[in-house]
Amino acid sequence: MQFFTAIFSLFAAAATAFPTKPGYLTQPMARDAGDVYACTGANFTGDCQYLKQPFDTCVIFPETLSKKVSSFGPDEGATCLLMQGSCNDSMPYRSASYPGISDLRNVTFDDMATSFICLH
Ligand SMILES: *[C@@H]1O[C@H](CO)[C@@H](O)[C@H](O)[C@H]1NC(C)=O
Ligand SMILES: *[C@@H]1O[C@H](CO)[C@@H](O)[C@H](O)[C@H]1NC(C)=O
Ligand SMILES: *[C@@H]1O[C@H](CO)[C@@H](O)[C@H](O)[C@H]1NC(C)=O
Repeated sequence: MQFFTAIFSLFAAAATAFPTKPGYLTQPMARDAGDVYACTGANFTGDCQYLKQPFDTCVIFPETLSKKVSSFGPDEGATCLLMQGSCNDSMPYRSASYPGISDLRNVTFDDMATSFICLH
């Protein structure tokens, strides 16, 4: 019983320690958010994922997209920053608005982004 309680507390602590990381999974209904479409190929080809997230929240790309994104398109109304690290603004980043950037090679950011954040 004590063991179970300890494990549960640990899980609860971890869940609060990283409140934003799985935002695209845990908040699929946040419709006042900017959704983005990200693909491993230029021109929105290859492995693509539609990611939903609240505004002003750093989203870490899933493993399948991290450092693999070659095209990135926010929905209308949002401006997003494609970033490195966990939205580390000490490292170079790129800004993208609708309809997005169809070939990140053109802005020397191909296969570099590990995270993004969308702003109103
Ligand atoms: C993307 O589409 C544009 C316009 O149709 C084309 O010029 C370009 O070659 C395409 N890029 C790739 C990598 O397919
Ligand atoms: C952000 O990037 C800078 C420059 O690469 C690095 O020194 C710093 O440790 C990074 N911060 C975090 C939180 O990773
Ligand atoms: C992006 O670069 C590709 C070649 O790398 C080129 O075909 C395409 O026209 C460029 N797109 C823009 C919007 O500059």
